[in-house]
Amino acid sequence: MILILSLGLLILLHGASSTSPPGQILQTHPLLLEPSCNDSRVLSMAGFALEKINEDRKEGYIFRLNRVADVREHHQAGSGSVYYLTLDVVDTNCHVLSKKNWKDCEIGKFFKSIYGQCKAIFYSNLPRRILYLPAYNCTIRPVSRRELATLCPDCPVYITNFSDPRIFQTVSEFLEKINKETTVGKKFHLFKVTKVLTYWVMGPSYSVEFLVTESPCNESLPDQCLQPPADAQPVGICAGSVNRKALPKYVFGTCEFFQSQPTSAPESYSPEHQVPQKMASSTDAPPLEGPKGSVQFLPDPSVGKIEDDKEKKPNVTFPAHVSLTTEPLGEVLHLPSHFLLEKEELPIVLPFPEGSRSNECPGPAEHPNSLILPP
Ligand SMILES: *[C@@H]1O[C@H](CO)[C@@H](O)[C@H](O)[C@H]1NC(C)=O
Ligand SMILES: *[C@@H]1O[C@H](CO)[C@@H](O)[C@H](O)[C@H]1NC(C)=O
Ligand SMILES: *[C@@H]1O[C@H](CO)[C@@H](O)[C@H](O)[C@H]1NC(C)=O
Ligand SMILES: *[C@@H]1O[C@H](CO)[C@@H](O)[C@H](O)[C@H]1NC(C)=O
Ligand SMILES: *[C@@H]1O[C@H](CO)[C@@H](O)[C@H](O)[C@H]1NC(C)=O
Repeated sequence: MILILSLGLLILLHGASSTSPPGQILQTHPLLLEPSCNDSRVLSMAGFALEKINEDRKEGYIFRLNRVADVREHHQAGSGSVYYLTLDVVDTNCHVLSKKNWKDCEIGKFFKSIYGQCKAIFYSNLPRRILYLPAYNCTIRPVSRRELATLCPDCPVYITNFSDPRIFQTVSEFLEKINKETTVGKKFHLFKVTKVLTYWVMGPSYSVEFLVTESPCNESLPDQCLQPPADAQPVGICAGSVNRKALPKYVFGTCEFFQSQPTSAPESYSPEHQVPQKMASSTDAPPLEGPKGSVQFLPDPSVGKIEDDKEKKPNVTFPAHVSLTTEPLGEVLHLPSHFLLEKEELPIVLPFPEGSRSNECPGPAEHPNSLILPP
């Protein structure tokens, strides 16, 4: 009851400010609440925000929420709140193109993890059925190679330079195997390498993950396949490796195919018709009003450091910043046109609150491993 009353009061205050002349807005300085980072409502908002971040991304692997690092909430006139979220995330085994929900994706082995932090501005108005992510920015890094070397000297190491010809060789050998054994009427081709780990088995070996595209083959002459069209899209992701110590060498791995578009049945594949159709639908559709944001990939800070400053842990920082305004009192947040809100109900967005953490933050981590938790 008390909560409902105080909410009512806030709504009245904001209602008053939005109709008063601009000079008077100063009197109702925006009130930022500091809910707990373990609050169930905060956790569900963080989950929705992360879903929308993953949906917006075009490359990399789906992020899973490890913990809510910080949160501020700003109640809005009418109903709804704007949340300023700082989320600690870890990447998973699912590529973003799989379009899975992060809750269905598990994080990989700690040595192959990429982890980091996202800042997000998120507007929720449940009575109006609005969950909207206007902006985000994330910074991610691979797990520190130096820390891994002490903890697990034999663990595979994540590498970011994909130009080593042995990586391409591993991809070719793996593709040759799946094209020979598992495909009928089509052939898979490399689209893009997405992750490489190297480990030592009597010499460097590579475990590679890569997106594949496909092209049709003549069913009566399976060796006659077309080249994939220049605008071919990835259809799946493969992870494979080659054990060169075995005789004959042993090629192993798996591929997972993305859910096809609802319009294209996988059995009736006809690229001549499918490609122009897809292009037509994307140009006819209204421009999507997606969030503003990006993911910045920073290198492992311990790579290239000299051995003797070993005791001093390098400062690992995740400098993600997000901002929709620099106006201290905020600005009206304009929503995409399909959200129907009265003008006076439009939320106010403030500069992202930086500085000290809220008292009951960070929340508990799902994986409290310091290797994959931002400081
Ligand atoms: C990546 O690796 C290739 C071959 O090993 C090397 O020639 C190239 O200089 C490397 N690039 C970077 C940016 O380290
Ligand atoms: C497959 O190859 C045969 C023999 O060259 C040819 O007659 C046939 O038209 C080809 N089929 C397709 C679908 O291209
Ligand atoms: C590392 O962090 C400390 C404390 O946060 C700071 O004083 C120091 O300048 C930082 N060092 C580097 C190299 O950034
Ligand atoms: C995200 O970060 C970049 C680089 O710091 C910055 O230029 C951009 O404005 C940020 N995006 C938003 C929406 O704040
Ligand atoms: C977080 O909340 C859950 C359930 O509400 C509770 O069981 C748990 O002890 C809380 N954890 C912390 C660290 O407060």
